[in-house]
Amino acid sequence: MASRFLDTLSGTPHTPPPVWLMRQAGRYMADYRALRSSEPDFISFCLNSDKASQVTLQPINRFGFDAAIIFSDILLVPWALKRNVRFVTGTGPLLDRLERVTDIDLSHLDDIKTTLAPVGEAIQKTRAALPVDTALIGFAGAPWTIITYMLEGQSSRDFPAARKWLWANEREFDNLLDIVTEATIEFLALQANAGADALMLFDSWASAVPAHYRDRIVSDPAAHIITSLRKRGIMQPVIGFPKGIGEGLVRYCDITGVQAVGIDHGTDLAWAARTLPEDVVLQGNLDPLALIGGGTAMQDAVAHILDVCDGRPHIFNLGHGITPETPLAHVDALVSMIRGSDI
Ligand code: CP3
Repeated sequence: MASRFLDTLSGTPHTPPPVWLMRQAGRYMADYRALRSSEPDFISFCLNSDKASQVTLQPINRFGFDAAIIFSDILLVPWALKRNVRFVTGTGPLLDRLERVTDIDLSHLDDIKTTLAPVGEAIQKTRAALPVDTALIGFAGAPWTIITYMLEGQSSRDFPAARKWLWANEREFDNLLDIVTEATIEFLALQANAGADALMLFDSWASAVPAHYRDRIVSDPAAHIITSLRKRGIMQPVIGFPKGIGEGLVRYCDITGVQAVGIDHGTDLAWAARTLPEDVVLQGNLDPLALIGGGTAMQDAVAHILDVCDGRPHIFNLGHGITPETPLAHVDALVSMIRGSDI
């Protein structure tokens, strides 16, 4: 198989492992900042397929990662559901807070193929421009993570509105979960059909789901999304990233049908390698902030990651997204260290 990334995802270990970084197209790169400033509105930037494709390729050209991730955002789904998503510099995303599930007009679900079509076009353009052995990842937010933004109206630390809703209106919460799950299936199907080689489901705030509800809100929706994609004939491997659920990873791997799981930097990768099913590929898990200092502390952490995953299919990545203050030279050092790891 041409791609080491896809070959690893299908269960064959590679030494050195393939590498890419979550949020690899972004503000730590001057090339990104330059193109981004040409389009003040972030949603318009994401929906400009030429610009989205160009920024997707920037980290590939600069670092030669094994996979590209399409430049887009998880909040395009609530945007397509007309939740008035906007990005304010210095504040982050803002949305109209959802008061009742009935405030969502279900006809928007049928329009997703059209409203988010530019993401598919960006995928087609990017796939055509990428080296054949570089894989292209499409992605969406998992339903819970999207719902937190819809109910909080912004980023949050403890997600009080979403958690209160969950405990107080179980039935209504289930209805909301169903709507967002359907929207997610449409968005991922669109990207797979446009030529994405793999799909990733970001449940960035899964750690905030009470363990009592974890199956219902994190794992079951992920399982449903994957089954529905398979029923539509979409067979691309899926990477699940239920960030911060610790021991919940065992059940997540057992019931979702993911081919790979993202391991955050708060989880012991040696535990994950020992405990999670052999047929689930591990992806992770360097603390993104280790890249800021670089040097021997980072090198020791990288050596440990390579060591505990030795012999097991593993995709090198961070435990969460790369941050804007990361020096490019430290990314260079990381990639050369990983690529030199078979000597
Ligand atoms: O990985 C990549 O290179 C692809 C691009 C990508 C973006 N967002 C671009 C982006 C991906 C994979 C995402 C996913 C995303 N978006 C997540 C899940 C991953 C994670 O980090 O947990 C989440 C939670 C979001 C929501 C989001 N988008 C927030 C909270 C913000 C504002 C905070 C911030 O970092 O500015 C965004 C904006 C955003 N999405 C930026 C980028 C490059 C920065 C906006 C800018 O350029 O002005």
